[in-house]
Amino acid sequence: MDLSVERYGVAMNEAGINGAAIKFDTRLLSPIYQFLQCETPEQWVEKARQPENLPVLLRDHLLCELKAAQSAMFLIRKYAVDPESADTLLAWFQPYEDFAYKKIGDIHSLKGKSQVTKQITARAKSAYGQDLIDKMVLLIKEELHHFYQVLEIMDAKGISYDSISASRYAKSLFQHITNHEPYTLVDKLIIGAYIEARSCERFAKLAPHLDEDLGKFYISLLRSEARHYQDYLALAQLISKEDITARVSYFGKIEAELIQSPDHDFKFHSGIPIIENR
Ligand SMILES: [Fe+2]
Ligand SMILES: [Fe+2]
Repeated sequence: MDLSVERYGVAMNEAGINGAAIKFDTRLLSPIYQFLQCETPEQWVEKARQPENLPVLLRDHLLCELKAAQSAMFLIRKYAVDPESADTLLAWFQPYEDFAYKKIGDIHSLKGKSQVTKQITARAKSAYGQDLIDKMVLLIKEELHHFYQVLEIMDAKGISYDSISASRYAKSLFQHITNHEPYTLVDKLIIGAYIEARSCERFAKLAPHLDEDLGKFYISLLRSEARHYQDYLALAQLISKEDITARVSYFGKIEAELIQSPDHDFKFHSGIPIIENR
């Protein structure tokens, strides 16, 4: 398996993207390559770089950003915040969910909504403190901002927003969660780490093959997504009373299987595309 960072640097220059303008620190990616148990197969990249697949890729990416924000929001609502903050979180998400699921609002009405106006605070006697909340609130802000940025790119490219079914990826990972606490939360955090890490790896893989604006945007996402993966992992270890290494590799194996097995669907996190014979 060739996961060397140099290879990605070379690929970027070969793709003819303005290297000086989109330079990024390839060291960001090395822990991600160590964490993931496989690299994205070339067949997926080949499909993803086809211009006719760009609308589905961007629509799915848009919803993935919202889902990333929602998962973090659900986590802190369930485990950590006080009742008033729970309401604040729902109100914060309302315009995004209205847009994504009811087609209410547009790019203009969503502008500037990625900031939360009130303090999000821990509930009394919470087993999970302000640290979990602060990390997740920062992550939510960033994901909602990414959502808006994807929407801006779609708008500039004349790609309409249409709802799209979810891929098998997250659902399949969540099927393996333990159903007793605190292991349920630990498993959810480990899965969060995998989703973030895979997204980061795919952004880096795809960037050289996309047009310059989109390529630059995907590279700009690397830093925050790499941090999100590390935050999830650190929180999982903080909350677990036991060493999480075995659990991490358990989910890593499932994740790699989803990435490396044939998949009829094509999405941001799908497996190896099946070439249909007509
Ligand atoms: Fe994101
Ligand atoms: Fe993220």
